[in-house]
Amino acid sequence: MTSKPRVFSGVQPSGKLHIGNYIGALSVWAKEQDTFDGLFCVVDLHALTVPEAINPSVLNQKIWETVAIYLASGLDPKKSSIFVQSTVHEHAELAWILTCVTPLGWLERMTQFKTKASARETVGSGLLCYPALMAADILLYDTKLVPVGEDQRQHIELTRDVAIRFNNMFGPVFSLPEAMIRKVGARIMGLDDPNAKMSKSIGEIKVGHSIGVIDPPNVIAKAIKSAVTDSGSTIDTDNAAGGVRTLLTIYQAVSNASDDEMHARFNGKGYGFLKSQVIEAVCEGLRPVREETQRLMADKTYLKSVIDQGSEIASGIAEEKMALVRNALGIDFIKKLSK
Ligand code: TYM
Repeated sequence: MTSKPRVFSGVQPSGKLHIGNYIGALSVWAKEQDTFDGLFCVVDLHALTVPEAINPSVLNQKIWETVAIYLASGLDPKKSSIFVQSTVHEHAELAWILTCVTPLGWLERMTQFKTKASARETVGSGLLCYPALMAADILLYDTKLVPVGEDQRQHIELTRDVAIRFNNMFGPVFSLPEAMIRKVGARIMGLDDPNAKMSKSIGEIKVGHSIGVIDPPNVIAKAIKSAVTDSGSTIDTDNAAGGVRTLLTIYQAVSNASDDEMHARFNGKGYGFLKSQVIEAVCEGLRPVREETQRLMADKTYLKSVIDQGSEIASGIAEEKMALVRNALGIDFIKKLSK
């Protein structure tokens, strides 16, 4: 038994993994992993909720690449379990059960569902039930903390509500998780639009929207040079808004500078100086991630051993929890019949 808090988080292997994902999630996982009993999952079943975007060979490649990026960002498989969601079948089983106990109105209220659904003609039921699958991911492992970006806060609140509802209906099976969200960098905005969150799907199709974690330095520099600022010319670090705030936030998160250091470095300086500093800090910060990802992707044997080991650990925990869930619901026939 470990006294470290159980931590679970994940990234969908879809679109172009960007610096918002890195700052809001991956860098926190790696930095704090010594204090966590951590499980980090590539949530491939979530990537199926937009079936029209699936290209099977691209998805397969992205799953491997996301595992490689987890490791290249500093996650150590000796300290944390890294696995792929679809290899632990209990995620799908519990997701169905939680879908059944979740009122429709709770799912329809989710901001992300409303945004995604309003942007498309047909909406699959999976997109609506997505938060029940996310709740399953978290609740299977008695998770205490869920390190994520700000956009996932509502899903984690829903997870708590679903756990409380299940426990009230069928007995105390699930622990209640809490979101763990960093102060600076929990919501990085698009470089081309300070009002829209940096997004993996937009980043994949629109040049200059995002900074990809494994983009080469020339692509990163071009995106930052073309980033939207405003009609001013000098920086006021305390009151900066819009695109200037986005660049300052990226710099501060990547360089770990304090507020005082940010003030001393940038106050009264021009936007051109800010951009050159952000380019330098981001290219330098992401260089090891890009190089290590390339190295790991060249031979997948090591990646496979990492996810086999992570999957075995996750399966052990998930099987125990599902036995309790089935028992609470009266559907533990397999065990009863074999007695
Ligand atoms: P996903 O794949 O969209 O994003 C992965 C992580 O990156 C964070 N993030 C951001 N942080 C800062 N600025 C941004 N612009 C930004 N965009 C994304 C997200 O908050 C997330 O932490 N539903 C989740 C995946 C998931 C999950 C889970 C997470 C499935 N099951 C269980 C935690 C626990 C998602 O789509 O993340």
